[in-house]
Amino acid sequence: MADKIKVVVCSGTACFVMGGSELLLIGEQLPDDLKGLVEVEGAHCLGKCRDGHKGGAPYATVNGKFVDAATLPDLIERIREAARESEARGAGEVGDEP
Ligand code: FES
Repeated sequence: MADKIKVVVCSGTACFVMGGSELLLIGEQLPDDLKGLVEVEGAHCLGKCRDGHKGGAPYATVNGKFVDAATLPDLIERIREAARESEARGAGEVGDEP
């Protein structure tokens, strides 16, 4: 079974007040085809706001890739991309077998 797609939502102050609080509920907003494929967790400040990128809050990651100024539709799209990549890798592995 494939690993779940991991979504980490920054729950630091800057991100939380800029919309991170809504992003934490993404598990309830996922389309049916993505439900069960995603693991969501909150995290303390991911460090991006300290790099002078305050305008990019809220931050999140999908399988380790940062999403700046994240919205629910952005995250759902990134999750969909990650699911497609995972599916393609799985198909490649089967095709690579002798
Ligand atoms: S509060 Fe989110 S990156 Fe710092």
